[in-house]
Amino acid sequence: MERRLAVIASGTGSNFAALADAAAAGILGDAKIVGLIVDSETAGARQKARDRQIEHVFIAHKVHPSAEAFDGALTSQLERWNADWICLAGFLRILGPGFVSRWRNRVVNVHPSLLPAFPGLHGAKQALDAGVKETGCTVHLVIEGLDAGPVVLQNKLPVLPNDTEATLLERLHPIEHRTYVEAMRMLLERPFAVVDNRIVWT
Ligand code: GRF
Repeated sequence: MERRLAVIASGTGSNFAALADAAAAGILGDAKIVGLIVDSETAGARQKARDRQIEHVFIAHKVHPSAEAFDGALTSQLERWNADWICLAGFLRILGPGFVSRWRNRVVNVHPSLLPAFPGLHGAKQALDAGVKETGCTVHLVIEGLDAGPVVLQNKLPVLPNDTEATLLERLHPIEHRTYVEAMRMLLERPFAVVDNRIVWT
């Protein structure tokens, strides 16, 4: 049975492109990227979807009367696509409990730090500011808490003495891309359960 992945992004979309290219190359088995939702008209991810002939939809936040209504609009679009996995790729909004429970254990996110360290915005800068010698990225399932869901996969990266946020992110991005692809491959291929906020591969 074909698995249908949708991506939600706010920005550049390099993680979206990595997932789309992996799916097109057959690296994600029978999975297909069925569409991209962006919440910003200027998101670079849209062009990446156009280039790959993937359907893309802009859903504005401000036209919705509440966060729940916006989440509901996301769900309606995802249901129209018959999506069964939702990959957040640089999506800058927090999804509410209604959305998370509708799509429980089917929403995945990539974060630029080794969670639970440095959740929230600017994870790489937070690591730099904290003076840690090693950081990395995390792919995790999304739950109600901010960047708090079960970890699927992490990869590390040394922080170099002269690193700036820009140089750190430049080295982190390709690591994120391969971590996200590998994590999705695992989630799609291997049955799992979530026990005490941890993934148990069954
Ligand atoms: C990535 O660094 C990801 O970890 C964070 O947002 C960024 C998105 O980058 N959640 P891109 O738009 O995929 O290039």
